[in-house]
Amino acid sequence: MTVFGSKVAGGVGNGGKTGALVVVVGVGVGDAEVLAGVGEELVAAGVGEVVGEAEVVVVGEDVGEAVVVVVGEDVGEVVVVGEVVGEAVVLEGGAGYIRSHVVYDLLCRDYGVIVVDNLSNSDGLNLDNIAKSNYWGSALYNYYGDCGEIERFDPRDVVGVIHFAAYKSVGESVRNPLKYYSNNINSLLNVLEYVGRYKIPNLIFSSSCTVYGEPFSVPVTENEPIKSSPSPYGQTKIICERIIQDFYAKNRWVNILSLRYFNPIGGYSNIPIGENPTGGYESLMSRLNRWALGLDNFIIYGDDYDTSDGTAIRDYLDVGDLSRCHIECLENIMQKGGSYSVYNVGTGHGTSVKSLVNKYLEVNGIKNKIVEVGERRGGDIDAIYADASKIANEIGFRCRVNLEDSLRASYEWHKYLVSKGYMA
Ligand SMILES: NC(=O)c1ccc[n+]([C@@H]2O[C@H](COP(=O)([O-])OP(=O)(O)OC[C@H]3O[C@@H](n4cnc5c(N)ncnc54)[C@H](O)[C@@H]3O)[C@@H](O)[C@H]2O)c1
Repeated sequence: MTVFGSKVAGGVGNGGKTGALVVVVGVGVGDAEVLAGVGEELVAAGVGEVVGEAEVVVVGEDVGEAVVVVVGEDVGEVVVVGEVVGEAVVLEGGAGYIRSHVVYDLLCRDYGVIVVDNLSNSDGLNLDNIAKSNYWGSALYNYYGDCGEIERFDPRDVVGVIHFAAYKSVGESVRNPLKYYSNNINSLLNVLEYVGRYKIPNLIFSSSCTVYGEPFSVPVTENEPIKSSPSPYGQTKIICERIIQDFYAKNRWVNILSLRYFNPIGGYSNIPIGENPTGGYESLMSRLNRWALGLDNFIIYGDDYDTSDGTAIRDYLDVGDLSRCHIECLENIMQKGGSYSVYNVGTGHGTSVKSLVNKYLEVNGIKNKIVEVGERRGGDIDAIYADASKIANEIGFRCRVNLEDSLRASYEWHKYLVSKGYMA
């Protein structure tokens, strides 16, 4: 989940000190310069004072990205860096693939950000790399815990929530459905209680094109009847969307968007953040990159689909575009006084798995790889891609990044992961 904060300059949880800069703490910060222990004042160091319970420290205006303040061993999971300016935003599950891009973009646009992630499918790599980057000047407050603990964050400065936190493996959800129903639904319920209790005005929910199951026609529009999804994962998204509708029916003051993502791939080339699941490399791009890097086999699941080359067709959008979509949506709904909408987020173009793989090999100069084809996976459908016109017309959002650039970025990211000792 992501919670957007307010335009209060003092930022999140810092006692409302105007123009405050805050603090990086904790796990993975590594070479942090320790300026103070719990409860110690930083005045002696010339950078400010300890505020409140020693979790957040105000360190002044011009300290910039170079200052890292460790504020106590028992708050090791808290990460706050930089100058608190503009709106503060809380992201639930912000260490993951999509949301780490959103964290970065929000910070670049002067939103303060609160991240809540229990690291069930990520580690601190993305957030550490964001914290080390020099591209933003807002506060990042990172809490490694379950999004059920969102209550610990002062709602006064929060202008919105983006609820990303969920398990997302279709295959695992078939093997362990209760794990998915429990986490994905309970985490949403916690967020809705928080939003409702404190009247947080904006909420964006990460939904998925899996809610369409096998659509009657493609490109699929938001008017496609929601039937049943072949996987428990997809079912959780259908149920969550329904819960959100019921919540909105009783809380007409809130703006809520359910964004139905198609297939995000790629990432930014200027900062090392990306998909790094701790729960297994199951996505198409993870498997493809592992194969390209000589770490694993790769099999296309089935070439007997009802498509031109027999492999399944999907809509691959760049995760950077998807991230920008969240910002544009947020800034759009912040102008409203109560609304509920559902949008597809995709390119509007379908690409077969075989053409994706061939393009990936070509743009990355990878030769002498023979692609194997195996059995179909249960639950996979022939083709789905978005009709992306509703979000273009109502929000003005369109994907911009081309497939080749996404595939290049994906390869570079995975090479980086290997260089850091991941994916072994
Ligand atoms: N990546 C895709 O292909 C895709 C497509 C459609 C929809 N989505 C949805 O987008 C969202 C983000 O996907 P992603 O690819 O970034 O996944 P990801 O697994 O990289 O990130 C999810 C993050 O949520 C965290 N998390 C899970 N349950 C949590 C909980 N109860 N409390 C706190 N943190 C929790 C995980 O540790 C992880 O960091 C998910 O809701 C997913 O269902 C993803």
